[in-house]
Amino acid sequence: MATTARLTLDPAFRIGPVERRLFGSFVEHMGRCVYTGVFEPGHPLADADGFRTDVLELTRELGVTLVRYPGGNFVSNYRWEDGVGPVEERPARLDYAWRSLEDNRFGLNEFMSWAARAGVEPMMALNLGTRGVAEALELVEYANHPGGTRLSDLRRAHGVDSPHGVRLWCLGNELDGPWQMGHKTAGEYGRLAAETARALKRFDPGLSLVACGSSNSAMPTFGAWEAEALESTYEMVDYVSLHAYYDPSDGDVDSFLASGADMEHMIRSIAATADHVGAKLRSDKKIKLSFDEWNVWYQSRFQGESSLDWTRHPRLIEDAYDVTDAVVVGSLLITLLRNADRVGVACQAQLANVIAPIRTEPGGPAWRQSIFHPFALTARHARGEVLRVEPECATIPTAKYGEAPAIWASATHDAATGEMALFVVNRDRRGPCTLEITLPEDLRPVEHVELTDDDLSAVNSADAPDRVAPRPGTGLSQEGRRASLTLPPVSWSIVRFAPNSPQE
Ligand code: AHR
Repeated sequence: MATTARLTLDPAFRIGPVERRLFGSFVEHMGRCVYTGVFEPGHPLADADGFRTDVLELTRELGVTLVRYPGGNFVSNYRWEDGVGPVEERPARLDYAWRSLEDNRFGLNEFMSWAARAGVEPMMALNLGTRGVAEALELVEYANHPGGTRLSDLRRAHGVDSPHGVRLWCLGNELDGPWQMGHKTAGEYGRLAAETARALKRFDPGLSLVACGSSNSAMPTFGAWEAEALESTYEMVDYVSLHAYYDPSDGDVDSFLASGADMEHMIRSIAATADHVGAKLRSDKKIKLSFDEWNVWYQSRFQGESSLDWTRHPRLIEDAYDVTDAVVVGSLLITLLRNADRVGVACQAQLANVIAPIRTEPGGPAWRQSIFHPFALTARHARGEVLRVEPECATIPTAKYGEAPAIWASATHDAATGEMALFVVNRDRRGPCTLEITLPEDLRPVEHVELTDDDLSAVNSADAPDRVAPRPGTGLSQEGRRASLTLPPVSWSIVRFAPNSPQE
């Protein structure tokens, strides 16, 4: 059944700037994200430092701007000192998060070199699970102090003369979760995070700090955890974190396709919680949100940490993503843009192999998963200011999230070039949608690219790396200030517009 939807693009309806930190990713010491993912000495395409140049190229093509490191659950039992200095002297350790063996051949300084080569900003997570204020301060001194102290001189002795200058630090990871090494109550966490934040800001008031929010919105303490943790940390932190993974495996496709609407509800709930704390504390400050883990994850296929057996970089949650997954990833990016006034940082989890847009084989090729494409196109074309877009459209009943709009959209306007980009998803499985767009004067559509397929279960693989790829859309037409196009069922699209007359 074909439907019609309408929306208006108007550069006056501004939400906020497109924050480049929204296009973040995540490299965790987990499975094969680091080892045989970004780092594989001996691979035919590895550079002198062992970084896979094919993965570096794909990372740049993906448009990633920032990478969170080194975990995740991994960080909550991590000793950063194990990963610096001569490689042959680095100890092997048990990684309790993923019941794996960590030999520390890749650590802080390798990550910083890799990040520089990939052209991304580093976002470091601190271990506030099994460690505390002293170790956090030691790491920051090692990483960021120029020299003349024991730890900064140790970094220099390790061959890194200039400080790394890391600006963005996470105060732990998912410490509300009982699976976390050093799991805490909100009160215990708030106290430790506040003391750590106070000390870090004494080291450098310019650091940006992220307090841990809930691990997911199904946690029994969702909202209450953020309220209590922020009461202790409000004036010392800049962000509170959100994490969400959407699982397609239960077969409820309509709910899965509505994941972006759920993510928006989550963002608005946590923004309201943070503002409530700010009001109670009579503070003028606004806490921003760091959505530093988000993605599609076939979680029910994962047998849990206890299924693992202390091996080196095991194959772990290497989900192969299909077309529907890519449409959902596109819609999650739309949600992040729609809330650009509040979400200042976002990281897709993770970058390589582990629930990732980039897949590799040890000694073999690297390829783009289906979800690579909406990320790359959004990161490339979302420029300038995010515009408020509210489509008039049908709704779809979902078991998990109630009525969800069939059309999910966001748009950006680059005042420097006059160009606009519309990012839009048709969630409807029943049929295509004719989208009618009211444009500002003097603008014309120049490109429509879509991601969809007759076979929504198609995936990319080492043998068929381009089976799922974006292609030109159909049915784009314009009459005066009205443009129209067809959005296929279950599709993600980008439509680009340019001014008829060049900008002054
Ligand atoms: O990204 C995989 C894991 O998911 C991370 O280690 C953890 O923070 C989250 O639960």
